[in-house]
Amino acid sequence: MSETPLPLPAAPVTITVRPNGPLRVEGHIILKDVDGKEWDLTGKPAISLCRCGLSEKRPFCDGSHGRQGWQCNVMAPGENLG
Ligand code: FES
Repeated sequence: MSETPLPLPAAPVTITVRPNGPLRVEGHIILKDVDGKEWDLTGKPAISLCRCGLSEKRPFCDGSHGRQGWQCNVMAPGENLG
């Protein structure tokens, strides 16, 4: 079974790995659960997705990473293109 390709967004979505924190996602975002049901992101130009697993509001970050001292700082390999 082939899936219908998604239309290309007008601008690319940018995902930034925050030091010791969430994934910051900016752009035209469609966020779905495993059943295909979407979160209402109306009016949100960006969201932060939990990367630590400690949030009470997953998949969104609620700041628990900072309160609990979670640490994970990763950098892209090679030259910084940003
Ligand atoms: S990354 Fe912020 S609560 Fe998990």
